[in-house]
Amino acid sequence: MTFENAIAILDFGSQYTQLIARRVREGNVYCELFPWDAPAKDVLALSPKGIILSGGPASVYAPDAPHLPKYVLEQGVPVLGICYGTQLLAHYLGGSVARATKREYGPADVEFVGPDNPLFGTLRSQVSTLKVWMSHGDSVAAPPPGFEVLARSANSPVAAMGDLGRRLYGLQFHPEVVHTDRGAEILRHFAVGVCGCAPDWTPGAFIEQAVAAIRERVGTGLVVCGLSGGVDSAVAATMAHRAVGDQLACIFVNHGLMRRGEPEQVVRTFHDRGMRLVPVDATEEFLGALAGVTDPEQKRRIIGERFVRIFEQEAAKLGDVRFLIQGTLYPDVIESAATGRDGAAVIKHHHNVGGLPEDMQFELVEPVRDLFKDEVRQIGKLLGLPHELVGRHPFPGPGLAVRILGEITWERLEVLRDTDAIFLQELESSGWYDRVAQAFAVLLPEALSTGVAGDESKFGQTIVLRAVETDDFMTASPALLPHTLLTQVSTRILNEVDGITRVVYDFSTKPPATIEWL
Ligand code: XMP
Repeated sequence: MTFENAIAILDFGSQYTQLIARRVREGNVYCELFPWDAPAKDVLALSPKGIILSGGPASVYAPDAPHLPKYVLEQGVPVLGICYGTQLLAHYLGGSVARATKREYGPADVEFVGPDNPLFGTLRSQVSTLKVWMSHGDSVAAPPPGFEVLARSANSPVAAMGDLGRRLYGLQFHPEVVHTDRGAEILRHFAVGVCGCAPDWTPGAFIEQAVAAIRERVGTGLVVCGLSGGVDSAVAATMAHRAVGDQLACIFVNHGLMRRGEPEQVVRTFHDRGMRLVPVDATEEFLGALAGVTDPEQKRRIIGERFVRIFEQEAAKLGDVRFLIQGTLYPDVIESAATGRDGAAVIKHHHNVGGLPEDMQFELVEPVRDLFKDEVRQIGKLLGLPHELVGRHPFPGPGLAVRILGEITWERLEVLRDTDAIFLQELESSGWYDRVAQAFAVLLPEALSTGVAGDESKFGQTIVLRAVETDDFMTASPALLPHTLLTQVSTRILNEVDGITRVVYDFSTKPPATIEWL
């Protein structure tokens, strides 16, 4: 899709780059992220009205440091450097960058100086100092000719600089993180005030454009969509249905590894919306293939292969299907393009368990590939999808198979389903479900411990409860659930689920642990 009002963000490797994109979009301006060394034609295809240079870990003086691509300043569009991006502007335009003797990391107060300017706008008259987040080694010592200092802090004489005539700006601090007061406002000022972008990136406008784009692409062809039960594929399918009606069939493969009530919910939701649904119950086939398998990677492989096979068989029965709709999200696109990030490729591979055969004969349609998770949720809400689907936590493609340590059996799955349902019910009724990013139970069938039932002692299995807080699922911290809630969940599990004698809570952060156990 193309947008008239767009900002390009060049990623120089900061851990916060995705946040820049999110903040710009929260200001209703469309933007896209590109690696700093992306070909100029890819970036310029967006016709950006402004370019943001992200932070990054390098020093401009390092021999292999990422450089400022030539086309950036040649476009005549406004540029905003953030942290390393600012140092690049200073370095290339004749200013000076001071090598760090130590890192400045944490909060700082900046004071506005210099002329009124559209980057800070009315902020300058509303507050005398601004609390900002610093995270840098090197810093700008003197701005380049034509630039003026716009803010300073105790440690950074050039906390912000600008060449108002050429519309080039730099911030030493990070406006994209929540620790910077009114940082989102500064980014919005850049996009709207400096670059002149109309803030027209709204969920409604997105749906209209996406539906029209699907209609144009698909024409009269047949389309299939693999539903996973999650919000991404549901949103993609719903927009495709708006675009091409009954040319779309949604295939829902129940692998028997879903949570309590989930398959029924998927069937009901899509049936109620008048969509053509092909439910396939392949529970026995999956459990048969998984019998005796304990290695998690082997479990994933078996599930992935089986899934693809069944999906293709069902699609073939429908006729000459040309297109496959998939709910790929923007972080998947970014992560799969990123180099050297351990795990991203693996997650990407499994993400596609939802329906991407390797040697696929379908043409791929990915209507939400430019969106972040929270944006896809907003769109889902606007499309009228039920809250329990829109607000659902992510659930891995291989389902409960990666939440049972060791062999998967129907009995173990049932124990885990009952337990998980109790945990999720209690989170919902206490209002905690929407306050955590992901929560689930894990079954350790072979971690046996003693319990008492009446006068007898017995050996039983262990349940681990895990709830995490995270923005991007790349790092996570344990949710600090109230003791009363955890005790209530534990009491219910011990009383209501046969065979469990121990309930424990997982306090591990990611890294070094991962969110899932397997
Ligand atoms: P980890 O465990 O890697 O999880 O910290 C990060 C996020 O990815 C999900 N996850 C998966 N999703 N197939 C998926 O579709 C998988 O094999 C898989 N493994 C982990 C996990 O639930 C979390 O949201």
